[in-house]
Amino acid sequence: MTETEETAESCDESCDETGWAWEIPPGIPAPVVPEDNPMSPARVELGRSLFFDVRLSYDQSMSCGSCHDPELAFSDGEVTPTGGAGEALARNSQGLGNVAYYSAYTWANPLLTDLEAQALVPLFADAPIELGAQRDTVGILDRLRQDPAVQGLFERAFPGEDDPVSVTSVIRALASYQRTLIDLDAPYDRYVQGDDAALSGAAQRGLALFLSDRVACVRCHPPPFFTVNVRTVDAPDRAPEFVNTGLYDLDGAGAYPAGNAGLYEVTADPADIGRFRVPSLRSVGATAPYMHDGSVASLEEVVDIYAAGGRLISDGPWAGDGRASPLKSPLIAPIDLTLAEREELVAFLRSLGSGPKDPLAPRR
Ligand code: HEC
Ligand code: HEC
Repeated sequence: MTETEETAESCDESCDETGWAWEIPPGIPAPVVPEDNPMSPARVELGRSLFFDVRLSYDQSMSCGSCHDPELAFSDGEVTPTGGAGEALARNSQGLGNVAYYSAYTWANPLLTDLEAQALVPLFADAPIELGAQRDTVGILDRLRQDPAVQGLFERAFPGEDDPVSVTSVIRALASYQRTLIDLDAPYDRYVQGDDAALSGAAQRGLALFLSDRVACVRCHPPPFFTVNVRTVDAPDRAPEFVNTGLYDLDGAGAYPAGNAGLYEVTADPADIGRFRVPSLRSVGATAPYMHDGSVASLEEVVDIYAAGGRLISDGPWAGDGRASPLKSPLIAPIDLTLAEREELVAFLRSLGSGPKDPLAPRR
């Protein structure tokens, strides 16, 4: 029996009504799954194969996995990645742990509220090109159909359909696979479940600081997902929150670099300049560099910026004092932190995991 058949069979016994045996710790509700795309082992297997398949790009050079590497919690280690036609993207590649749970996708787009819709962006975006599938959609689907193994995966994932190999099937399977990337098994989780030795003394003190009224990272990054932007079967309609953390102020009025001003790019409301989705901090130790544009190199630097209540950039094209931005959230204010406390916060952030486990892979 192959490993995949084994997965499918063990699932038949333990799956819930969504068709999937979620590996979620007790007390955390399941993620929301759209009714028209129920989970199934066959969809997850197809989605996983497509996620790493360069045939999804117009020139067969790039896959989702090119910018979302499982070894880096599904991020890519770049400041910003380069798309399939060689152009730089404006934003940092995001890790994909727990993506099933987020209430909106990407750094600042409230309109992308499910993974099916999100997948259309890397597949078909024009400015800049990512996979460039619009340049050869028919050819891409034909190449997948001509591979009997892949054709078979589509038939099992979408049984009874006349032509199971379609763009709709591709985005549904990709979404099903990504929903399985649960990341809730970090040293932090073992610690809160009672294993005191799971966190170093420094990380434990960092956790206390993170939760404290004085430092209060928890106001925007609450456990267990370390972001407010979470949707579960118990709270399916929670609206996402977008916040200006004072990373830039180019003109004394709060301006961010053109074309990368966060929620403002979607709403055109000047009050939304610099507002970005509060990201999860799960496995954040594996996803450097940081922030929407990858402009912060390390967690040490992130903590220094929060301690200063924003970022001062003294020279260069982005010079300005984000600490004084009139658009900055009132929750971002200077915090008096000793060097030891900064190190403890970083030790705690590093205890938040090293990426989701691949449910179909042999255990690492
Ligand atoms: C060229 C690099 C690149 C490729 C290829 C790519 N992505 Fe991404 N991905 C990114 C970047 C950059 C972002 C952040 C985009 C933004 O905020 O505008 C992102 C964001 C995402 C998100 C949102 C995560 C979150 O926390 O909201 C998902 C989901 C995702 N990508 C899935 C995919 C899938 C599926 C594919 C393949 C069809 C893919 N990506 C291909 C670079 C890439
Ligand atoms: C008022 C809400 C808010 C508070 C309070 C807050 N954050 Fe954030 N955090 C954000 C937002 C929004 C971003 C993304 C900003 C951007 O990219 O422009 C972010 C980004 C981050 C990142 C980078 C994540 C990544 O994937 O790039 C880290 C790390 C982080 N915060 C840690 C902390 C720590 C530590 C504290 C406490 C000292 C804290 N945050 C307090 C809202 C907040």
